[in-house]
Amino acid sequence: MMWSARTKIGWSLVLAGAVLMALFAARYYTFDPANYFERQRAVYENQTLPLMLHISGMLFALLAGPFQFRPGLRRRHRAVHRALGKAYVAGAIVGAVGGLYMAQFSASGPPSDLGFALLAIGVLVTTTFGVVRIRQGMVQSHGEWMIRSYALIFAAITLRLYLPFLEKAFGEHDGYAIVAWACWLPNLAFAEWLIRSRQAAKSVRSGSRSPRSTARSTSTQHMPRDSARTLA
Ligand code: HEM
Repeated sequence: MMWSARTKIGWSLVLAGAVLMALFAARYYTFDPANYFERQRAVYENQTLPLMLHISGMLFALLAGPFQFRPGLRRRHRAVHRALGKAYVAGAIVGAVGGLYMAQFSASGPPSDLGFALLAIGVLVTTTFGVVRIRQGMVQSHGEWMIRSYALIFAAITLRLYLPFLEKAFGEHDGYAIVAWACWLPNLAFAEWLIRSRQAAKSVRSGSRSPRSTARSTSTQHMPRDSARTLA
């Protein structure tokens, strides 16, 4: 399937966001506390190992993710899709476990602890479903879970986009507590909208009379186990 100009622009923006986030996070590899998030400097000095596992795992997933969504790469270079996919899953799991651990120390106490903890659990659940689905040969459902997984990981970028505005409107403490939720809930809603629009477009292309029923059946579409293994 050819991508529309709108999809290409959206994909480029996602990749640009991932690269900018990687450049932002690179400061942590200096291991110089002067470069750490100021309000959390003391915490990060005491928790350098889990923080760095979190950042490093997430960086892998964040940068590998956009390439996994390119249909050309999936079709023509399956081995690359599989290798990057494994790096994505490993990175997402290590990064999310690190994030879940770091959540207890987050800057605005229980409200932000809970927001980040649920986000980390969301990444673990959606990524695991993505892996399970491809192992079951359910290709479309695999792609849909991976869209959810990446939308959650992309919270790192939306957090840093919204934070200055939320801190201005609600103050440093409350703005940060709000962003711990606002950085991922709309991303998840966007992922659901995207998945449903793709299902509807697919059912229109396949000439179905009832887009909804086809959407339901295609999301559980099976592929022979051997073919699915070449993708997984
Ligand atoms: C999507 C799941 C994620 C969760 C649950 C999560 C969780 C956390 C938590 C709890 C902290 C400590 C926050 C605080 O001190 O208040 C943190 C910090 C940090 N995380 Fe994540 N994070 C996620 C994604 C990412 C991604 C994709 C990156 C990209 C590299 C990233 C990079 C960082 C960095 C650089 C910090 C240090 C704080 C700063 O300088 O802004 N995180 N994360």
